[in-house]
Amino acid sequence: MDQNCDADKIILRQPDDWHVHFRDGAVLRAVVKNTASIFNRAIVMPNLQPPITSVEAAFSYRRRIMEAIPDGVIFTPLMTVYLTDDLPIDVIERGFQAGLFTAAKLYPANSTTNSSEGVSDLKEIDSILETMQKIGLPLLVHGEVVDQEVDIFDREAVFIERHLIHLLERYPALRVVMEHITTEQAVQFVEANSSRLAATITPHHLHINRNAMFAGGLRSDYFCLPVVKREHHRRALRKAATSGNSCFFLGTDSAPHLRSFKESSCGCAGIFNAPNALESYAQVFEEEGKLHKLQGFASEFGPAFYGLPLNTGSVTLVRREQVIPEFFEVNNGLGSKEKIVPFHAGETLNWSVLGLKEALE
Ligand code: NCD
Ligand code: ZN
Repeated sequence: MDQNCDADKIILRQPDDWHVHFRDGAVLRAVVKNTASIFNRAIVMPNLQPPITSVEAAFSYRRRIMEAIPDGVIFTPLMTVYLTDDLPIDVIERGFQAGLFTAAKLYPANSTTNSSEGVSDLKEIDSILETMQKIGLPLLVHGEVVDQEVDIFDREAVFIERHLIHLLERYPALRVVMEHITTEQAVQFVEANSSRLAATITPHHLHINRNAMFAGGLRSDYFCLPVVKREHHRRALRKAATSGNSCFFLGTDSAPHLRSFKESSCGCAGIFNAPNALESYAQVFEEEGKLHKLQGFASEFGPAFYGLPLNTGSVTLVRREQVIPEFFEVNNGLGSKEKIVPFHAGETLNWSVLGLKEALE
């Protein structure tokens, strides 16, 4: 299916989201429709509290996600397992054989939201990585060091030097995705190792640089991890995403947090972009003069990396301005409502998705 693209309308093969956080409970029930109404599949992150560290927990989480999909919507959540220092290898093997796990996620301990039970040292998971290499289960990496001596803006580049280079050498057949890359160094490193290393790129890292977090005051809505970087990094990411190079593909890292947690004195990292992710990407591709490259990035390179079939359906984007809501309301389970602020809140985007999404509103 070729992308059909004129000045005012784009018909794309249906895309997938290769990195999303759905959370659980009331938030899960509120956010799943945003992803499910546009994307056919999504890689679901396992950093719940407690994290998904067993086959049973992953089956049960998948069931809760399925229950939250609106009637009439076809959507497949692709489950991941959360690596810990002492995760039994048997969990990886059983989850893989059951067709449940699409990948395993490596969070260096304390690197990001709900990562305290992550991996303290790569040596601890040596035999797990051996097994993954053997059975062909991809490793998804949150690529930041947690060393307090390393400046937060350098943690991704240092992770590549200190860990990723050696990891690729030690497990030459392991397939790896560097999730939500944020730097020029990551772009170059992924390009240089693209036979078995890929990267997801978020909408927000394509739209904003680190100034956004401090524009007129402290703006927690733009705080995520890895933290947004300098302008030259944003430019490198835009070039990579729109290049047509199949080692870069769509992963929103949509990460909803209730407003009260974002605004606290120690605000949570994460940006909720699921309601308008595709339109947000389309705007970037248009600004770069690369709309014709959107389908590869959004709908083709991800399945190719994971060895999954291409979607056969389509989505249509039309040039129609939309103002993004200031917030969404979520029942907090205690009888009252809480806000979640989306990316682009109050801004106008140029493109709108037609179809299913409108039918659900
Ligand atoms: C994510 C979350 O909130 O779970 N936060 C974020 O800033 N991206 C975790 C993650 O992907 O690092
Ligand atoms: Zn994430």
